[in-house]
Amino acid sequence: MRFNERAHTYDQHAAPQRRFAEALAAFAPFPRGAEITELGAGTGFLTNALLVQGASVEATDNSPSMVELGRQNAPLADWKVRDAFTKIPKAKALASSGLLHWAPDPVAVLRNWHDAMPDEGRLLLGVPCDPCLFELRDLMGEGPLHWRDEDQWLKLLESAKFDVRAHGVLESQEIYPSSIDLFRALHGSGVTGSPRMSPTTLKSLIKDYDRLHPKSGGVVATWAWLLVDAVAL
Ligand SMILES: C[S@@+](CC[C@H](N)C(=O)[O-])C[C@H]1O[C@@H](n2cnc3c(N)ncnc32)[C@H](O)[C@@H]1O
Repeated sequence: MRFNERAHTYDQHAAPQRRFAEALAAFAPFPRGAEITELGAGTGFLTNALLVQGASVEATDNSPSMVELGRQNAPLADWKVRDAFTKIPKAKALASSGLLHWAPDPVAVLRNWHDAMPDEGRLLLGVPCDPCLFELRDLMGEGPLHWRDEDQWLKLLESAKFDVRAHGVLESQEIYPSSIDLFRALHGSGVTGSPRMSPTTLKSLIKDYDRLHPKSGGVVATWAWLLVDAVAL
């Protein structure tokens, strides 16, 4: 992933991430005045949705460029550069969208998050899950990420001692003019790593995607996000 490098083009290419972050906030709203630490806040999609609810938000991200942009987009939050995958400071409640699937060991991360919270402290979590981008993964293989489905994520939460009070998977079908535009969107939002295929392989991948997944004059990509409202036990 190249979030720091691509921070300036993230908003332009992250329409699904924005919708999922806004849906997550609406799925289980916080009461006015809630104090929330947000992890992997990016440019502030979820941050703004939480601020609108009247919450006070400490927004954190390990990318200095994301934090700089977040500060401009959501100036009412308190922005800090911080790694969410190591021990984190005490927090009354945590919120995060589109971050945890990047952790090499999500259970260890969830345990750290659990330890930072009081009993019954709330975790509002949004994480992409299977079948997200299955059309692309079927053609390319899994890549650097290990994709989990809803049940697998719920088991990880349980083993880190979170009690899931509500959950659901939100799926959307995004139409792109062609698969090149899907690749551009993924690249521009920073979710791709260093190029690992030759131009010839890429060309045939684009051709296969366009042929196998046409829809409404373009191509379709399925996006899926697990929304979770949980408390620390
Ligand atoms: C897909 S973006 C999601 C951003 C935002 N939450 C949203 O919904 O648009 C993932 C974010 O996680 C951040 N990130 C990745 N690894 C991180 C880590 N170890 N600690 C904190 N933030 C991290 C990236 O810099 C990026 O801003």
